[in-house]
Amino acid sequence: MFDLTGKVAVVTGGSRGLGRADCLTLAKAGADVVVTDILIESDPSIQEAAEHANSPLAQLFASQNVVYSEATSDAIRAMGRRSAAIKMDVTDRDQVHAVFAQIVEQFGSIDILVNNAATLDHVAQIESQSDDFWDRDVLVNLTGAYNCTKAAFPYMRQRNWGRIIYMASVAGTLGGFGQSSYASTKAGVIGLGKSVALEGARFGITANIVAPGIIGTEAFKAGNPKMNDRMVLRTAMRSAGEPEDIAHTITFLVSPEAKYLTGQVITVAGGIDLFTF
Ligand SMILES: NC(=O)c1ccc[n+]([C@@H]2O[C@H](COP(=O)([O-])OP(=O)(O)OC[C@H]3O[C@@H](n4cnc5c(N)ncnc54)[C@H](O)[C@@H]3O)[C@@H](O)[C@H]2O)c1
Repeated sequence: MFDLTGKVAVVTGGSRGLGRADCLTLAKAGADVVVTDILIESDPSIQEAAEHANSPLAQLFASQNVVYSEATSDAIRAMGRRSAAIKMDVTDRDQVHAVFAQIVEQFGSIDILVNNAATLDHVAQIESQSDDFWDRDVLVNLTGAYNCTKAAFPYMRQRNWGRIIYMASVAGTLGGFGQSSYASTKAGVIGLGKSVALEGARFGITANIVAPGIIGTEAFKAGNPKMNDRMVLRTAMRSAGEPEDIAHTITFLVSPEAKYLTGQVITVAGGIDLFTF
């Protein structure tokens, strides 16, 4: 229904999970898609990249070959779209600007930006919150989205058209037990997204924020099973969502048809925020 033919999308953190589903779904709708991530299968320094990320989850998935950046890009090309898998760390400001310039040179534009990359592997109550992981979460989840927005915005403004998505979480709107760093960054991207929506409106640029609840990605499944069961039971639907539930929402938000929808937080959470009992 939503036709993204001729649009160039950049997705951060596309090696697995929601980012990967976003890449494939946007391509199905017709977009050319650039998959970016710190983890790229054929990168000889993939283990070092995972170490550098200071993320147990990145180290686990790199060692288990749960990395599909190039595979996703290949699947997109097999659909007849243009695609590339590019190593990019959203926390490296110079690299982000260089990669975005390279994308515009190679693909002609950046029309859609999905700020999906995040770290979500630190759960600790406030007294045990690691200072190191606090800094990491702010740097990746919030500053990373800022870096990518700042790099993409001028290209969108030049063409008077753009769509920017921020991945928040219900942890950012409801708070999260043991998730002070993660939840704070997810609340932060809501402020960032609304501000960008205000500034982008005169240039045909919309910015919206998606707040997923519990989605059954590899990262979610790697979590504590008892905690996961409790979270799923909080949803009205009594089940985790699928990555495509998020990807379809994003496909609508970045479509030409969603031109009057901006600065909104769209919760896709199976009713986790309802009075479930
Ligand atoms: N899965 C859920 O239930 C859920 C719920 C709410 C919000 N979210 C949000 O959705 C997004 C994706 O979640 P997911 O479950 O697929 O997580 P995930 O950990 O599987 O994916 C995150 C991706 O980001 C990449 N990444 C990490 N640090 C990076 C960096 N510095 N630069 C570039 N890439 C980096 C990782 O390599 C990975 O591919 C995140 O923003 C997350 O906070 C997920």
